[in-house]
Amino acid sequence: MTIDTETSTAAASGASATERFRADKSPYAAVKDTPKERVDVLAREVLGAVHATIRKHKVTYDEYNALKSWLIQVGEGGEWPLFLDVWVEHVVEEVATSHRQGSQGTIEGPYYVPNAPECGADGTIPMRPEEPGTPLAWEGTITSTDGTPLDNAKLEIWHCDDLGLYSQFSKGQPEWNLRGTFTVGPDGRFTVRTIKPQPYQIPTEGACGQLIEAAGWHAWRPAHIHVKVTAPAHELLTAQLYFPGDRHNDDDIASAVKPELMLAPEDRPDGSLGVAYDFILDPIQ
Ligand SMILES: [Fe+2]
Repeated sequence: MTIDTETSTAAASGASATERFRADKSPYAAVKDTPKERVDVLAREVLGAVHATIRKHKVTYDEYNALKSWLIQVGEGGEWPLFLDVWVEHVVEEVATSHRQGSQGTIEGPYYVPNAPECGADGTIPMRPEEPGTPLAWEGTITSTDGTPLDNAKLEIWHCDDLGLYSQFSKGQPEWNLRGTFTVGPDGRFTVRTIKPQPYQIPTEGACGQLIEAAGWHAWRPAHIHVKVTAPAHELLTAQLYFPGDRHNDDDIASAVKPELMLAPEDRPDGSLGVAYDFILDPIQ
């Protein structure tokens, strides 16, 4: 089959992430009762860290003005979700989930879309006929921390294709390609058939790419499968699962890899991969 290899520009990809985030009014509503004292201390300490960096490194007016231009460009390119999810979110996630007894999570990233098509407890994720990539069959269970299977728990999955591109954030893929929702029954078991995603670089054509270039960093994320796992009366688990041997497991641009999130796939005689990975959700206290 022919795959449209035209990649989205950073601006287009970033803008759609911004558009989606803007459509959601809940971020402000969720913090509307935050006391002024907390806003004051958070804002003051962030600014204090900036001031300390300027003093320590004797930041010049030329550098300050370049920063101003760059910040404007991040906004105009719609790259704030990309910037924040790549360089900030992993610490927010670490703080938010430090109390958990169940499965480890990691960052959501900018490419989640809710309400992916339902695939049942045992199903194949939506994909094109002859979707390029190594077939992957994944079996697992969703239980509570006491071992009880969680009837009706939902496993949402999204990942990139063999070219490292996400549906709805790049051209050439059907709307829900490689995005699906798996709902388990009373035994908590699921079977997912998909393909192994590839490593990819975050968009480098925009302001985030400019920073990466100027700082001599790289833009790579190791191959990963994104998941969200939900069940009544349990905390939402957002995670990404990784593959051993990926050259960017140790230097992920988004700092989102954890040892607990490493899969252990096995090669099957037919050239496909088989893997087992379970989820344990924490009850809401
Ligand atoms: Fe991703």
